[in-house]
Amino acid sequence: MNAKLQSQLQAQIDKLDSVSTAPAILMPLLDMLRLPSDRIKLEKVVELISYDGSIAGQCLRLANSPLFGRRQTETVRSAVMALGLERVRSMLFGLCMNEVIPRDKWVFAPDAFWRHSLGCALITQRMAERIEYPEPEKAYLAGLLHDLGFLVNSVLYTEKFRECLRLAAEEHIPIHVIEEQVLGFTHCETGQMLCEHWGLSKELVDAVHCHHDVSLLPNAGPLACLVHLSDLLCRVRYLGYGYDEIMGVDLGGDAAWQTLIRAYPALENMDLVRFTFDIDGAMEQIVATVDSVFGARTIAAPATS
Ligand SMILES: [Fe+2]
Ligand SMILES: [Fe+2]
Repeated sequence: MNAKLQSQLQAQIDKLDSVSTAPAILMPLLDMLRLPSDRIKLEKVVELISYDGSIAGQCLRLANSPLFGRRQTETVRSAVMALGLERVRSMLFGLCMNEVIPRDKWVFAPDAFWRHSLGCALITQRMAERIEYPEPEKAYLAGLLHDLGFLVNSVLYTEKFRECLRLAAEEHIPIHVIEEQVLGFTHCETGQMLCEHWGLSKELVDAVHCHHDVSLLPNAGPLACLVHLSDLLCRVRYLGYGYDEIMGVDLGGDAAWQTLIRAYPALENMDLVRFTFDIDGAMEQIVATVDSVFGARTIAAPATS
């Protein structure tokens, strides 16, 4: 992206807050996203959720889903306790972004977008736990946010971005490849700018920035690598963008996996087939969870008009 386009985009992103009708809970939530997890207060989270009926309902559905043992959770407070504060905080953010984007600006079907984001969040966290990454909840958040740039592109470049999605679906190729050709930038870059604008940590910003290509940053950290691999796994297992991509995944040969091995040498001896098998086992539960939040859905062609 050239410098002129970058400063133009930056100015538009800086204005995003004032052009969208953010739900009341968005700004307090963003403040919470910046807090270390031990400073988040349960009562504050319950209060925020209770402001919005549809968000409270989705929170209860998730707490009652198979991933959390189908508890009979009937209050927001017990749902928050069942899910855990960190998870609720991230999920709330996703749900309230649904309300930030005006209906006519959604290029992806919102449920396809959030199925992919939530699926990626859950898998990033699983992988983080498996490799003993010290902050699995941060991994969850990075997975949830990684494609935020799609929302920026949908709001700022609605028609051109719709064309990108149509072409990508027609040719069965990753959308960032088409974005580069049509827009001259990708959702990775606009997502990075939005995360910077919100003051999120550099580690999160970097993970969003290089989630399709960790070699973009010379010092891409484990978080970026986990998000990259988890995004790939989601896309080959029908938790992608709502269209089929022609792709294969070779985890062991992926640059992100090699970077992870350098950070966690014990991974070198990990049985990768077994590792992906475990993730596949979790995938079924993850799909059930995503369905319980957004409703069951078959893979559908993207909206093209
Ligand atoms: Fe992406
Ligand atoms: Fe993605």
